[in-house]
Amino acid sequence: MFNKRKTMTDITKSDLLAALKKIDETDFNKDVLILNTIKKFDIIDHTLNLHLSLPIAEDKIPTQLKEKFESVLKKEYPAIKKINLKIEGRTGHSSETKSDSVLPGVKNTIAIASGKGGVGKSTVAVNLAVSLAKDGAAVGLIDADIYGPSIPLMLGISGKPRIYQDANSMKMVPLESYGIKVMSIGLLVDDSAPIIWRGPMASGAVKQFMSDVEWGNLDYLIFDLPPGTGDIQLTLVQTIPLTSAVIITTPQEVSLIDARKALKMFQRVNVPVAGIIENMSYFIAPDTKKHYDIFGVGGGSKLAAELGVPFLGGIPIDPRIRIGGDKGVPIIFDMPDDEHAKIIVDISRSLAAQIALNRNSSHDIKIILD
Ligand SMILES: Nc1ncnc2c1ncn2[C@@H]1O[C@H](COP(=O)(O)OP(=O)(O)O)[C@@H](O)[C@H]1O
Ligand SMILES: [Mg+2]
Repeated sequence: MFNKRKTMTDITKSDLLAALKKIDETDFNKDVLILNTIKKFDIIDHTLNLHLSLPIAEDKIPTQLKEKFESVLKKEYPAIKKINLKIEGRTGHSSETKSDSVLPGVKNTIAIASGKGGVGKSTVAVNLAVSLAKDGAAVGLIDADIYGPSIPLMLGISGKPRIYQDANSMKMVPLESYGIKVMSIGLLVDDSAPIIWRGPMASGAVKQFMSDVEWGNLDYLIFDLPPGTGDIQLTLVQTIPLTSAVIITTPQEVSLIDARKALKMFQRVNVPVAGIIENMSYFIAPDTKKHYDIFGVGGGSKLAAELGVPFLGGIPIDPRIRIGGDKGVPIIFDMPDDEHAKIIVDISRSLAAQIALNRNSSHDIKIILD
């Protein structure tokens, strides 16, 4: 596949992973080689610099792994003259075990994030989840906004999850609403009690939502993240074995600045961003049908173009969307034929398509070799 002459060839992260997976090593589970395990790679002057962070304890990494990886890479890419390979284990974060073992039945984990609060993350998360479920997917939703859980209200759920003892541990059964499985701290603590946990406790709770909840088989497990890009968000993002992130922003500059930060946070931890959704894009007066650009125009699509990620669409401001949230009856469910509900359905389908594409790694960072 490599041409030593002038032809350009792209090497992507998944090409590298595919090459690494060719090793023959009985003491090493190749399933841990997912995109996230490549922390860094570049090729400069026919030297490959590759940094792998494996979700296993440092002392469990087979001693001969480095040599074996180097030898498959050399065989696969004869044009690479030198390999600087660094392999580290991730013992410090016991949470960062391989996604398969944390959520064995879950195909895709999606974080819904934003830089700012109040841009409609939870509203969009709920409506996307219901829309994907209506299209036939098995969907779960984790309210990871530990300090401001709003998912139970938005889905009209109350009651406590059932707890049972399985062979080794206690498991919680998620509550179900509109065909999706849901878990939120709001279902476990009193509504009016302030949650004053520190960061590690918050990420500990989210970890438990993954490990101690009976999710079963899901096509998508969606995480509604708390707003911001501080330590708590960063810890959470590293705690969850994420396969995709979606950034929600309004069209205005103050929201875009923070959306940009959120996007960079995911890039820093190697989580592919499936796209940007603009919320509160415009308003159409119900009486006059006049179109108002309340928060400006085109910010979301411009940001997507600037950062090289897909723009998944814009959702208008619609009092019925707000009312649906407050009443616990999402617009997607209540008025599926409404024009604005259809916009959200289209976005959910674009998102599903983008995630499928990412799985096939077309979203990889490409490095040009000549
Ligand atoms: N497209 C929209 N049209 C009308 N109201 C909206 C829309 N999106 C969100 N809202 C309302 O804005 C408020 C904040 O939304 P929310 O989803 O809680 O934001 P976040 O989770 O980002 O903090 C809620 O009252 C919600 O009902
Ligand atoms: Mg929210």
